[in-house]
Amino acid sequence: MDPGKVMVFHSYKGGTGKTTLVANLAAYYAKNGYKVCLLDMDLYAPSLVSYFQITPKKYLNNLLHDESTIDETLIDITEKLDISGEFFLGLASPEKEDIQSIEIKQDQKWQLEALRRFLVIKRRLLSEYGFDYIFLDTSPGIRYWSINSLAASDILFMLMKVNNMDIVGTKKMITEIYDSLTRYGSKTYAILNKVGGASPFAEYNVGENISGLIKEVEESIGIPVMFSIPCFCDLQFSRYEFLSTITRSEHQFSKILGELVNTLDSF
Ligand SMILES: Nc1ncnc2c1ncn2[C@@H]1O[C@H](COP(=O)(O)OP(=O)(O)O)[C@@H](O)[C@H]1O
Ligand SMILES: [Mg+2]
Repeated sequence: MDPGKVMVFHSYKGGTGKTTLVANLAAYYAKNGYKVCLLDMDLYAPSLVSYFQITPKKYLNNLLHDESTIDETLIDITEKLDISGEFFLGLASPEKEDIQSIEIKQDQKWQLEALRRFLVIKRRLLSEYGFDYIFLDTSPGIRYWSINSLAASDILFMLMKVNNMDIVGTKKMITEIYDSLTRYGSKTYAILNKVGGASPFAEYNVGENISGLIKEVEESIGIPVMFSIPCFCDLQFSRYEFLSTITRSEHQFSKILGELVNTLDSF
């Protein structure tokens, strides 16, 4: 996929692996020479502050409130990582007051102005700042800032686990918002994550008929499944998974994300 694109990770339910995947995919591109920007648009329950263990001077919240500039808000973590590209972060505030200020304290006029600011920021990051790829982590479900993030996407990934609750919820969400999204020109694909015993590499498959499973899910939700990622117990239960695609490039999870990037390259 050509540079200059915004990739958004979303899901119906929480815990599908959005934060893990978006951070690792951004890191994969940064490691391979690209200039990437990862923004925590999960404004209702941010997690990149704890994932990266960084407390910024200014948050994305300040940017949306027009209280800070892009330069003041973005954090360049390139030097801290073993990468040949560049990696910038925009973090959301985990403070209760800041979350409430975005969620309930503002009127519709403010929300629309903040959305306009957000879309201008996105355009500037691509044109003036020259980011190759912008990655957005989002809140699950159909909340205001999830939809705003989806509207900013060039390519949208709906993450899901293969269970009925996720399938039914994802289908409903796609039916409700898919039309308006495709009108904005974004492409939407599902990614199956934490698939039990399944792998894109045949030698790692444990009895699961992965192509049959993908076909079944595609028929249920009505959008293509681009990829499936097995469930790795060590990731699920590790106390602190951190940018495995850089720190543990030999791990199957990292290799599989490399395969995902190869798949994306053909788009
Ligand atoms: N493919 C996977 N296999 C096993 N565990 C995973 C996988 N992807 C994500 N996880 C784990 O699932 C948990 C939830 O992931 P997270 O990225 O926080 O989800 P979300 O952002 O969608 O709520 C984390 O413990 C993460 O390490
Ligand atoms: Mg998350």
